[in-house]
Amino acid sequence: MSYTPNTERYKSMEYRRCGRSGLKLPAVSLGLWHNFGHIDPLEKCRAILRTAFDSGITHFDLANNYGQPSGSAEENFGTILKKDFKPYRDELIISSKAGYTMWPGPYGDWGSKKYLVSSLDQSLKRMGLEYVDIFYHHRPDPETPLEETMSALDLIVRQGKALYVGISNYRAEEAKKAIEILKRLGTPCLIHQPKYSMFDRWIEGGLLDVLDAEGVGCIPFSPLAQGLLTNKYLNGIPEDSRAARHLGNGAMEEDQITESKIKKIQQLNELAKERGQSLAQMALAWVVKDPRITSVLIGVSKPEQVTDSIRCLENYSFSQEELDKINNILK
Ligand SMILES: NC(=O)c1ccc[n+]([C@@H]2O[C@H](COP(=O)([O-])OP(=O)(O)OC[C@H]3O[C@@H](n4cnc5c(N)ncnc54)[C@H](OP(=O)(O)O)[C@@H]3O)[C@@H](O)[C@H]2O)c1
Repeated sequence: MSYTPNTERYKSMEYRRCGRSGLKLPAVSLGLWHNFGHIDPLEKCRAILRTAFDSGITHFDLANNYGQPSGSAEENFGTILKKDFKPYRDELIISSKAGYTMWPGPYGDWGSKKYLVSSLDQSLKRMGLEYVDIFYHHRPDPETPLEETMSALDLIVRQGKALYVGISNYRAEEAKKAIEILKRLGTPCLIHQPKYSMFDRWIEGGLLDVLDAEGVGCIPFSPLAQGLLTNKYLNGIPEDSRAARHLGNGAMEEDQITESKIKKIQQLNELAKERGQSLAQMALAWVVKDPRITSVLIGVSKPEQVTDSIRCLENYSFSQEELDKINNILK
């Protein structure tokens, strides 16, 4: 079935400038870490991507190791891109990354120039793309000189294989150093991708300030703590949930759903109801409320979750009383 995108798609989405760059990103972006691999039905992936694009989501986030098996999310994305989105390439911001274990031997992991350049070449092939819009170093490498990793990012941009570069999972101090090196090389760091949610607030302790001062955007991942910050686990563990699927590769497991977490989720759920939102919407709104956040990077297992989550943008203002209540619950 041929695809005609919704002509109204740009009307309801908010687009935010990414740091002090020229690029704007949708306030909600979609990640393809899980639910887009060869173990997942391709038609479901396709339906999710269509719903997202129809809703004004222009940014799709990938990495070399996404999907099961690793690399299959990029392959599936490439297949769907060819079928549905090819005429719209210039309306899309597609990102990929390298930094985690991808292939055996010393050149398929961490942060050497050898790994980053080869990995991006492989990603481009899998997706059938000439370039990605954003290429990230996925995690800091304690052994490779930062200078080498950053000059690999600079090289990739100069080769025309990526338009912009970013870093992910870098702590405040190492992010500052990376940003400085990139600036010196003449390829500014566009964006940082850290983990951030009501349950994991480490970026409030310095990273957000660094990014703000340096004019670098911020796109938090796992804003729903992989599904915990929704109504999904209130009454047990549904069979089709991420926790029940034992996906490995960093995916949430059942033992992370502790009694103390459930108690907090129940209280947060009540507050969300008072605000007229689903818990997922309130948890995303809580991230998006900070103007230093460029976009919130969601994951979904079905199209309806895109439609539900995106409605966080209808109300992301919080009274001081609500913020205090949230802080008390999270203590
Ligand atoms: N840079 C990094 O190191 C890194 C690491 C992790 C992720 N990421 C990026 O961040 C993206 C998002 O991460 P994530 O998938 O962990 O994000 P998340 O938004 O915290 O969790 C997504 C999961 O929450 C559930 N969910 C989503 N919307 C819902 C709704 N409206 N109602 C009920 N449940 C809902 C679904 O769980 P079910 O599957 O159980 O339905 C979904 O799979 C990834 O795809 C990837 O692009 C980056």
